[in-house]
Amino acid sequence: MNQPRRSPDWLQRIRTLVSERRDSSNWRSLTIRDEVKVALPRTIDLSSNDYLALSRHPLLIDCVRDAAARWGVGSGSSRLVSGTLPIHAALERRFAKFKHAEAALLFPTGYVANLAVLSTIPQPGDLLVLDKLCHASLIDGGRLATATGATMRTFPHGRLDRLSTLLADHQIEKPDAARFIVSDAVFSMDGDCADLPRLAELRDAHDAALILDEAHATGVLGERGEGLDAAGLADITISTASKALGSLGGVVTGPVDVIEWLINAARPFIYTTASSPLQAAAIEAALDVIDAEPRRRTRMAALVHLVRLRLNELGLATPMDPTPIIPIVVGSAQRAIALSAHLRASDIIAPAIRPPTVAPNASRVRLSLHCELTDDDLDQLFRSLASFDWDQQQ
Ligand SMILES: Cc1ncc(COP(=O)(O)O)c(C=O)c1O
Repeated sequence: MNQPRRSPDWLQRIRTLVSERRDSSNWRSLTIRDEVKVALPRTIDLSSNDYLALSRHPLLIDCVRDAAARWGVGSGSSRLVSGTLPIHAALERRFAKFKHAEAALLFPTGYVANLAVLSTIPQPGDLLVLDKLCHASLIDGGRLATATGATMRTFPHGRLDRLSTLLADHQIEKPDAARFIVSDAVFSMDGDCADLPRLAELRDAHDAALILDEAHATGVLGERGEGLDAAGLADITISTASKALGSLGGVVTGPVDVIEWLINAARPFIYTTASSPLQAAAIEAALDVIDAEPRRRTRMAALVHLVRLRLNELGLATPMDPTPIIPIVVGSAQRAIALSAHLRASDIIAPAIRPPTVAPNASRVRLSLHCELTDDDLDQLFRSLASFDWDQQQ
C-alpha cells in the first residue's frame, strides 16, 4: 500500500526562515517601551508619531475616562449590527466638518480604512495608480482591488510624468472605466509632501479621481491642522488618529455616496467590531485640542525648520520639507543600526529603518519630531550626530 505523502514540515520551514532572517541585518524584534524608559531615564524620544504630544494630553485622558463611564470600553458588535453608538456618529459629523467634506466614516485603524477604500471604490476594469513609496496599507488595498478585476500600477516616487502616461494609456484602452490616483500626502519614510496641485491637474486632465492618505499630515499641516489638502483638491481622503491625533482609528472623508457605499460594501468595515467608544472620544478631544492650542503646531513647525537647517549645516543634505519626519539616509542596514545605537548611547531613541521598509542601500535613521522637544534636547541630538564616525565603512 502506498504511504500517504508527507506534507512539508511547515514548522521546520518557518524555523529556517527565522534563523536566516536572524542572521541578516534585517531581523526585527519588539522592544517594550517602559523598559527602554527605565534603562534610559532621560530619553529623548524621536521614534514616535505622536507629533503634537496628544497621547497623554489631560483633555484626551479625561474625555476617554468619561466615555468609558458612559459607554463602556467596547462597542459589542459590528457597526451594521448594533455597534454604532451616538459617540461614533458625533465624531463622524465633526470630522467631516474638520475636513470640509460631505461625510466621514470611522474605522478601527488607518490601515483598515485604506484597505476598505481601495478594495471597495474601484470597480472591475478600473485603474489604480500609486506612487511606489505609498504606504503598505495602500499597496495592500490595491492588491485586494486587483482580486476583483481592477488593475494596479505603480510609478517611481514623484515621477508624475510616468503617472500621466499610465493614465493616458488606460484612458485610450478603457475609456469607460474609472482611474484612481492614490498618494500619501506626506510620505512616511522620507517625510516629503506629494505635489498636490499637480496631482489634481493630472486628475482633471485624465478624468480620474484622487485618493489621498493624510496619515502624517492631519493635525500637523494646514492653517487649522486640516492636513496638506487645505484646498480640498482630493476626492477621497483618509486620515489616521494614530499619529498627530495621539490615539487610534482611521477616518475616511468624502462625498456622502462614497461613505454610503463603504458602509454597504467594504468588507473591512462590515466584518469587524465597531471601533471602541474610547477611540471616538479620544479623536474628538484631539480635534478640540488642535483647535484650542495652535501653539503645538507652530512649535512643531519651528522645530522642523530648525532641525532641517542644522542637519544641512552638519553636512547632512536634508530637504526643507515642512514635515516632522526627517530621514538621515546612510546606505547600508549596518550603518543605520550603528547610527541608531550611537544615538541611543546619548539617550536618544531614533530607529534604524531598513529593507524591506525602504529600498536596499537606502537604510536610514528616521527622526520623528514632537512639539515638546526642548532646545536642550536639540543640542543633545546635534552633539551626538557630530560625534558619530560618518566615515566608517558603508
Ligand atoms: C502613510 C500611512 N498610512 C496609513 C498608516 C496606517 O495607519 P494606522 O497606524 O492608523 O493603521 C500609516 C502608519 O501606520 C502610514 O504611515
